[in-house]
Amino acid sequence: MKKLLALILSVAMLAAMAVTLTSCSGGDDAVQVGIVLPTKDEPRWLQDEASFKDALDSAGFTSEVLFSQGKSDVELSNVEALLEKDIKVLVICAQDATAAGAAVNKAKAAGVDVVCYDRLITGTDSVDYYVTFNSFAVGVAQGQYLIDAYKDQTGVPLYIYSGAVTDNNAFIFFAGAWSVLNKAVADGQFVVQNCPAIKDYAGKALDPDADHDTLSTILGTITTDWDFSKAKSLAEANLVAANASAKGDVAILAPNDGTARAIADAFSADSAVSSYVITGQDAEMASLKYIQDGKQSMTVWKDTATLAKTTCDLVSSILGGNTPDTSTTYNNQAKDVPSAECAVTVVDKDKLAELISAGSFDQAKIDAAK
Ligand code: BGC
Repeated sequence: MKKLLALILSVAMLAAMAVTLTSCSGGDDAVQVGIVLPTKDEPRWLQDEASFKDALDSAGFTSEVLFSQGKSDVELSNVEALLEKDIKVLVICAQDATAAGAAVNKAKAAGVDVVCYDRLITGTDSVDYYVTFNSFAVGVAQGQYLIDAYKDQTGVPLYIYSGAVTDNNAFIFFAGAWSVLNKAVADGQFVVQNCPAIKDYAGKALDPDADHDTLSTILGTITTDWDFSKAKSLAEANLVAANASAKGDVAILAPNDGTARAIADAFSADSAVSSYVITGQDAEMASLKYIQDGKQSMTVWKDTATLAKTTCDLVSSILGGNTPDTSTTYNNQAKDVPSAECAVTVVDKDKLAELISAGSFDQAKIDAAK
């Protein structure tokens, strides 16, 4: 019995030593790529998680995905936990563009390469690369859709909403949309109903970098914080404040799918709104269903499989000791960050039917969406 106990104990000790050795030496179960995503509560980021698993697993890299659940302190502890696992590359989609600086500074100090994913972290030179969709093109597509939908009309009430001001992308999306809408407002096609701060900018485009402070003030008055319930209450408050002439057939710039559905619900509940055209982005299943049901007009599809694959190629190059291919740079207020940019696709009801036939989306998944 004693011999058996001694044997069990020594096997256990050996096993413990092996675990310690593996994690110290970055051996077989070490995590090579640590991924930190903003939240599990928006379908968009679950799509990214799944796409990452596919791309990194098939490339043969070990990886771990952690979610920050909307909190910068959780994001920081996620990064610390991944550094403990001896990661070589950190892929991070920041919760808050500025606050995330502390997390990536730690990663950089630990000798880890830092890749910003989808959202750029600002004000620090600890960022090595940025992989993103063309966010300005997303905004342009949203603005242009509204313009085309109300072609040759004047005085159409326009309601505008933005993403979170802590997200650098929110500035780029809005600046993209405003780059086309500003002319339509100056020409009288649209009358903005819910944003006095934009009045001075009819006929004037705004630059996401050079006009950052102005945009910050404007977005501050129309922000949804990327939060569905905040989006809905803001839209409801705007409708309460609007008189009948500001209703009828309206145009709505909604920044993404989740907020678009919430805002659309508020507008469809108002009997003085006879019809609305509303934008979105992300091609979330629930929004594809809204598009088929005529409750959302369009979305901008940002194929997360493409973004994850592009990130994976970049990571592969870093791990192979090479300099990744990048096509452009984004300034993060501390440096020009070498960036890889992916294209986006506009999806309305007709385009969606085409994409379903082509196998890009599955009708059963759209039907099952909540
Ligand atoms: C992303 C969008 C997303 C939004 C809210 C943005 O940074 O680019 O795709 O809808 O955050 O999570």
